Amino acid sequence: MARQPAGALLNVVLDARSKTPLHRQIYDGVRHAILSGRLAAGTRLASTRSTAADLDVSRTTVTSAFAQLMAEGYVVGRIGSGTRVSNALPEKTISTRAARVGSPGSGARPTFSSHSRLYGSGLRAPLPPVRPFWPGNPSVEAFPVREWARLVARQWRSTAACQLQYGDPLGDAALRTAIAAYVARARGVRCEREQVMIVSGAQQAFFLCAQLLLDSDDAVWMEEPGYPFARLALQSTGARMVPVPVDADGLNVMSGRTLEPKPKLVYVTPSHQCPLGVAMSVARRLELLQFVDNANAWVIEDDYDSEYRYRSRPLPALQSLDRDGRVIYVGSFSKTLLPCLRLGFLVLPRRLTEMFARARAVIDRHPPTVEQAVLAAFINEGAFDRHVRRMRAMYLERRDVLMKALRDQMRNDIQVAARDAGLYVVAWLQHGLAEKAIVAATAARGVDTLPVSTFYQRPPDRVGLVLGYGGYSPEAIRQGVQRLSDAVREVTAARGEGKRARTSAIT
Ligand SMILES: Cc1ncc(COP(=O)(O)O)c(C=O)c1O
Repeated sequence: MARQPAGALLNVVLDARSKTPLHRQIYDGVRHAILSGRLAAGTRLASTRSTAADLDVSRTTVTSAFAQLMAEGYVVGRIGSGTRVSNALPEKTISTRAARVGSPGSGARPTFSSHSRLYGSGLRAPLPPVRPFWPGNPSVEAFPVREWARLVARQWRSTAACQLQYGDPLGDAALRTAIAAYVARARGVRCEREQVMIVSGAQQAFFLCAQLLLDSDDAVWMEEPGYPFARLALQSTGARMVPVPVDADGLNVMSGRTLEPKPKLVYVTPSHQCPLGVAMSVARRLELLQFVDNANAWVIEDDYDSEYRYRSRPLPALQSLDRDGRVIYVGSFSKTLLPCLRLGFLVLPRRLTEMFARARAVIDRHPPTVEQAVLAAFINEGAFDRHVRRMRAMYLERRDVLMKALRDQMRNDIQVAARDAGLYVVAWLQHGLAEKAIVAATAARGVDTLPVSTFYQRPPDRVGLVLGYGGYSPEAIRQGVQRLSDAVREVTAARGEGKRARTSAIT
């Protein structure tokens, strides 16, 4: 009869074809057995000789695994014959440590900080591949990748060693100079390089403004409807969002005064209201600036897509009328270039720059230096203007394709307004159709639509969808409208709406 080894055999299954060395597989197996409680504290392990024979590996392999376990404190004693599972491992916690990678863990629900809830509803855009008509996606296929790659390579070759150290929290000087010149030329913004701060997209700009300008319970005038990601960032310090209605002239300052006469900050999208698409009239701009001067409030001017205006030139930025240093201008390269670059900028009133630089240094120190230098070259060498010109023509064509398809197929079902700018339109649904049912029916057909209600703080009295067209080919747009139309018909039929007055709503 074979002699039983004195001590526990390891019951480890080895895979001779695995890339993981055998000693590492033994180590992993024993460690897991200990952490899961299968090998209890104090258990004596079989000798290295018996274990090697049992697992059919060399003794050196086992010795190496045991030595590592001993170095980490899982086992104690003498390698060879007297190895035991350590008694020093806290018994109660042991079995909970063996959770597999990706398992949700067996602990109680995490206790988040009390302000974590201020990050809101967990709104997240879908990950690629994106489907029509999710708004906010520019056309990435048309991006001049080769030209960008050439500049990246050139930049890496020419960057001096000193530029590879930590950079300026306000951003790369060359890029800030290029942006100051661009916004002056294209948007009438009045600033010098010192006022320009490079950020990781407009989103970081909103977040910084919230962190530095808003205390808990401060009132913020927020466009109603308005951009939800700006709203979530601004309320992240506990500020109170006051929904101020938007009309054909933009944010209604009179209504705002009545709702909250002392806001600390006002958020607006004057050149292309998000999502309604109206441009703020000059009279309204002047009224707003007069109001914030009197109220000692800040204004965030979110100029996220003003490059895309199809019939006329956009009005100069609100900032260009600002005499009192109240307007914080926010720009983004997410629509003009690529969202993945995560590059945007702030034009700050001078008195804010130092504090913003200090905050940025604490949050993530500064934006990536080489990418900024590449973008500076891209702008300075004319590639940026060329790209925007090409994209404007492409988006105009896509907008026309969308409008024609909507006219041809959905004339009686929806109403589209303000569509001469941007990368999306708002389609108001008629006949009291249920937004949720439409979104579900379109999603089932491979079409993503974002309900307008996402942009409202209060339930809107109309039902509509925000339809993005910038990021989708004409063919995808036509097909998408067909599917949207099918979905609307299905939901309409389900409501039992047969006979209804058919009046054309799209002109
Ligand atoms: C109103 C508005 N502002 C700003 C942005 C740009 O954000 P970011 O620069 O963080 O990509 C978007 C993007 O969709 C937007 O819709």
